[in-house]
Amino acid sequence: MLFSKSPMRVSIQDVAVRDGFQSESVFVPTEDKIRLIDRLSRTGLAKIEVTSFVSPKAIPNLRDAEQVMRGITRAADVAYVCLVPNERGCERALACGVDEINLVMSIGERHNLANMRMSCEQSLEQFRRVMAMVRGTEVRVNGTIATAFGCPFDGDQAPSKILWAATHDLDMGMHSVTLADTTGMAAPRQVGELVQIFLRTFPEVPLTLHFHNTRGMGLANVIAAIEAGARSFDASLGGIGGCPFAPGATGNICTEDLVHMLESCGISTGVDLDRLLAIAKDLPHFLGHDVPGQVLKAGKRTDLHPHHTPLQLA
Ligand code: COA
Ligand code: ZN
Repeated sequence: MLFSKSPMRVSIQDVAVRDGFQSESVFVPTEDKIRLIDRLSRTGLAKIEVTSFVSPKAIPNLRDAEQVMRGITRAADVAYVCLVPNERGCERALACGVDEINLVMSIGERHNLANMRMSCEQSLEQFRRVMAMVRGTEVRVNGTIATAFGCPFDGDQAPSKILWAATHDLDMGMHSVTLADTTGMAAPRQVGELVQIFLRTFPEVPLTLHFHNTRGMGLANVIAAIEAGARSFDASLGGIGGCPFAPGATGNICTEDLVHMLESCGISTGVDLDRLLAIAKDLPHFLGHDVPGQVLKAGKRTDLHPHHTPLQLA
């Protein structure tokens, strides 16, 4: 059970500089991205999604993917991940020595068309070619199944479709799978059911959950996923993020809020919350607006305020 006394460890990948920055109205300068990633590398995060090797016309904010990936100081205990949509992206990622490639396909056909300009079959064809390029290298490949908990165009997706996509991904040699809730449509019961089905079908496959907090269910979904056996999550510093090709998309679950919640439940993340909060504090300066993260504003639940005793009047 979730709140039993036995120790539990959850690993976290921060996706702020990819999922977060891709949809902002400003271009964060390359040096600032590099500094931010270098600071994140010293917080205890398991993974950082650094950038996307996509078309600079589609995602202009990440047009500096090569400079960022080559400019960062890599920590030995952090895996550096990059999103790749096609063979061209794979070529670029391999040239920069990434640790892991993240191949994304939406299971909602119409979101895949809007986002990747491909049908699911065409995406899978690109993935097969990417897998052929990666074969023989040390690079791991993760398959993200986007809109897994609902597509903004096609609605709920049957679990059998998710398993179909995962089977294709794994058969081509991908190492792990992420189920992504691209536009915050996931609800806790649905999450628990899908995670259980996935883990029953693929008990040996590392599974990550990627939630957006669009409808305020993000952290509740994490709890539901953990109860169903998940132990790995994506989250974004400050809670920024969102797919530019999905209507109404908003931020990911917030990394520092996630760490705060899990550690408050006695679930270990390995992440230094104070360091994370210090970095999150600088985000509004880069982005020119407030960020959704709540612990940053309220302080940790253990932070106490000075109490002023009312004056005793004579
Ligand atoms: N890296 C750099 N440039 C790329 C590229 C890549 N991985 N893939 C395609 N391009 C360039 C092509 O060279 C071409 O450039 P040109 O117009 O100067 O000739 C242009 O992009 C269009 O290429 P094409 O093959 O026709 O692709 P497309 O227009 O159908 O776009 C994608 C398909 C997926 C490459 C593009 O839409 C994309 O990168 N989308 C980003 C998706 C994303 O990151 N979404 C949010 C995260 S889930
Ligand atoms: Zn996302």
